[in-house]
Amino acid sequence: MSLTSSNRTTELLERIQTRQARIGIVGMGYVGLPLALLFSEERFRVTGFDIDSHKVDKLNQGGSYIVRIPATEIELAREKGFCATSDYAQIETLDVVIVCVPTPLNKHHEPDLSYVTGTVRSIAPHFHEGQLMILESTTYPGTTEEIVVPLLEQGNPAGLRAARDASSPGFYVAFSPEREDPGNDTVARRDIPKVVGGCGPAARDLACAVYGAIFNHTVPVSSPAVAEMTKLLENIYRCVNIALVNELKQLCMRMGIDLFEVIDAAKTKPFGFQAFYPGPGLGGHCIPIDPFYLSWKAKEFDFHTRFIELAGQINTGMPYFVVDNIIEAMSQQGKGLLGSQILVLGLAYKRDIDDLRESPSLTIIELLQKRGAHVEYNDPFFPSVGHGRKYALNMTSTPLDRIPDFDCVVIVTDHSQYDYPAIVAAAKLVVDTRNATRGIEASNIVKC
Ligand SMILES: NC(=O)c1ccc[n+]([C@@H]2O[C@H](COP(=O)([O-])OP(=O)(O)OC[C@H]3O[C@@H](n4cnc5c(N)ncnc54)[C@H](O)[C@@H]3O)[C@@H](O)[C@H]2O)c1
Repeated sequence: MSLTSSNRTTELLERIQTRQARIGIVGMGYVGLPLALLFSEERFRVTGFDIDSHKVDKLNQGGSYIVRIPATEIELAREKGFCATSDYAQIETLDVVIVCVPTPLNKHHEPDLSYVTGTVRSIAPHFHEGQLMILESTTYPGTTEEIVVPLLEQGNPAGLRAARDASSPGFYVAFSPEREDPGNDTVARRDIPKVVGGCGPAARDLACAVYGAIFNHTVPVSSPAVAEMTKLLENIYRCVNIALVNELKQLCMRMGIDLFEVIDAAKTKPFGFQAFYPGPGLGGHCIPIDPFYLSWKAKEFDFHTRFIELAGQINTGMPYFVVDNIIEAMSQQGKGLLGSQILVLGLAYKRDIDDLRESPSLTIIELLQKRGAHVEYNDPFFPSVGHGRKYALNMTSTPLDRIPDFDCVVIVTDHSQYDYPAIVAAAKLVVDTRNATRGIEASNIVKC
């Protein structure tokens, strides 16, 4: 006897609740791998998909390539059935497929959805009745309904369509944004509420059931577009507020006011103020990129997102501002940048993480090199670096005992394992872009 669609929905719900559902995660990166491990911890059998054969091999050997994920966690998951593959035919054996592939910008600063479309095209021939696909990659509102669903439908050999309710045949599609804050251990991942928008109520309820198994709260919303926009609002909020403090930092420096002290005072207000901190520029795969997904989409509606553009302009200018301040600080010591020795501390885009995507350190190094400085770096998370943002850097991390050899040490990333008093004591000049030297009294520190 063949199952009706509503029976299939009930059956999938039961499989989720009893941990029988087989989960596939596509994209074993910073988002996908931790998610796979969370499902595995909850006794689901998980298959990780990646086109990078090195990652697949490493995972299948019980190894990790993300510093904050110890190999023991991969081993534990493997004992519970976790494995990795590049073979999309295995999609057929799964109940739920979650897509966590990159969504970068192209060289014209426009959304590059090729990873998402490539993934969905690979999944489509193997996708069958009653399966649920959830997109987690950050993207503009409309992607799930306008791009993912049509590609899944066109590529389906049985001509299946997305089921809009429990009584229609087909497969289910939903969007749920990843909201992780790498390096922030103050909130457990399970406690970050999971926003879920489905293509119809059945898809939404199934996706909520899936995430309800590993997250303590789910937040169902009325459509994938609302969920997509929610993620962009969160990141644009950060981007715009960081631009605001970056602009105020430049003003405060002219006025001789310490903005960090101002922020510390302002954040004592128990309502209506959230502290954001200035820095050397934006980095990571989210804040410098995601807002431009919305500004691109907005143009389709004859709308110009002026806040996003302005914030982008200010934040993009910060590495240049830092370099200007290094030049000024050195000239105060009677030195020029040309032929000088500069040590950049921290390559990662933020403290205590092993991610250098879009890192302002790379831009600062390239700008300094372009102006004739000899630049080296130190970063405990990166023993070596190959390519920078624009050029091949091919550098290895310089040991900190060589600090006295440099004309200037620039703190770009304030890793917590650095001994700042010792760095200041050893350096001729320290340019601090993160207020990492707060509380240290020394005449060789310049904050910017
Ligand atoms: N990293 C974060 O902190 C973070 C936070 C929130 C949201 N996001 C979003 O999550 C998404 C993924 O980001 P990430 O940081 O995990 O990226 P990542 O680059 O670390 O990982 C993506 C993985 O996908 C793989 N991949 C690419 N194309 C593939 C394909 N066709 N099939 C299978 N695998 C493929 C890559 O090899 C890579 O391992 C992005 O949209 C990002 O904006 C990231």
